[in-house]
Amino acid sequence: MTILVTGGAGYLGSVLVPKLLARGHRVKVLDIGYFGIGHLRAFRPTVELFREDIERVVNDHRFCDELLDQVDCIIHLAAISNDPSAELNPTLTKHVNFDGTLALAEEARKRGIHFVFSSSCSVYGEAPGELTEDSPLEPLTAYAHSKVEAEAALGQMAGGEWRPVSLRNGTLFGYSPRMRFDLVVNIFSLYSTLYNEIKVFGDGLQWRPYLHVNDCARAFVHFAEKRDHSHFVYNIAHENLRVVDVAGLFQQMNPRLKVSHLNMVEPDRRDYRVRASRMEGAGFLPRLTVEAGVVEITEAIINGQIPDPESIYYRNAKWLKELSELGNRSHREILGLMENIPNRAATSF
Ligand SMILES: NC(=O)c1ccc[n+]([C@@H]2O[C@H](COP(=O)([O-])OP(=O)(O)OC[C@H]3O[C@@H](n4cnc5c(N)ncnc54)[C@H](O)[C@@H]3O)[C@@H](O)[C@H]2O)c1
Repeated sequence: MTILVTGGAGYLGSVLVPKLLARGHRVKVLDIGYFGIGHLRAFRPTVELFREDIERVVNDHRFCDELLDQVDCIIHLAAISNDPSAELNPTLTKHVNFDGTLALAEEARKRGIHFVFSSSCSVYGEAPGELTEDSPLEPLTAYAHSKVEAEAALGQMAGGEWRPVSLRNGTLFGYSPRMRFDLVVNIFSLYSTLYNEIKVFGDGLQWRPYLHVNDCARAFVHFAEKRDHSHFVYNIAHENLRVVDVAGLFQQMNPRLKVSHLNMVEPDRRDYRVRASRMEGAGFLPRLTVEAGVVEITEAIINGQIPDPESIYYRNAKWLKELSELGNRSHREILGLMENIPNRAATSF
């Protein structure tokens, strides 16, 4: 198949793209390049790169013809991809995460292209018990709202042969060639390795479903290749844990570790755990534990595979804020700015 991966240069995309190539698919990537795209150039066979804003899909039909030429499936990951980044500019978040998704999905529907959307378990917000795909949604942030609205729009557009699928991913962890250190297991791995100390914000009693980035990438391969899914929405998760449980795992792995608690001015209300039996029924099973992810990240830090791991480059919200003061500048200006920052993430530009 020819598969277009939007956001293919991001944390998840950079793990997914080589898996698709290894399975013999031809891969196109559309990514604005907020976190660099250079690492994709190392992949073999080569990837066809469109360093473009998803905005062009909204506005430029001729561009869509070129982008979607021969494409059989779109895996749509491009997004302002976490709560703090999304709050920097909720209008931009809606534009990228909702309007961009809708425009791309319209093009996919017109052309009969299979569409796999990267949603998030954060759509559940704060709710007791194990949540299924049919549980009520309670989006608490601009990010979660954008995912809920995009899922709903896809559901309304579905019809006949065109059956888009939304994967509600849990909180990811694990090593990626485009690393993120703003995800809880990854942050704990960083500070446990460098300082023998991790900090839990608040009481740490909030539940989250966790999923290794490799397993998440495998789930996207699975749902891209399998067209006969019975549902439009799937929870994709492996282990439900509270943040204190995650900290406990780190202590078991490193008995000298100090765990401290920090008070939060505004406590994080998000608290959800999910049941993933629908995903299992569709024939997909995650394999990798939190412990496996911790070992691999620790090794990557020690081996120097991740240059300057404390840089804000690995933290989406801080990086985007530094780049742009989002909201005052256009995407084009942000990119121009990035190109002119010397030595920051030099390997990626
Ligand atoms: N990482 C997680 O824990 C997690 C959990 C649930 C859902 N998700 C979803 O999975 C997807 C991928 O997440 P990730 O962790 O790889 O995030 P990421 O921020 O590393 O990657 C997102 C990519 O999208 C690109 N992008 C952003 N705006 C764009 C635009 N206007 N036009 C084109 N490209 C644009 C960025 O340059 C980046 O490479 C996102 O949709 C995210 O919401 C992630």
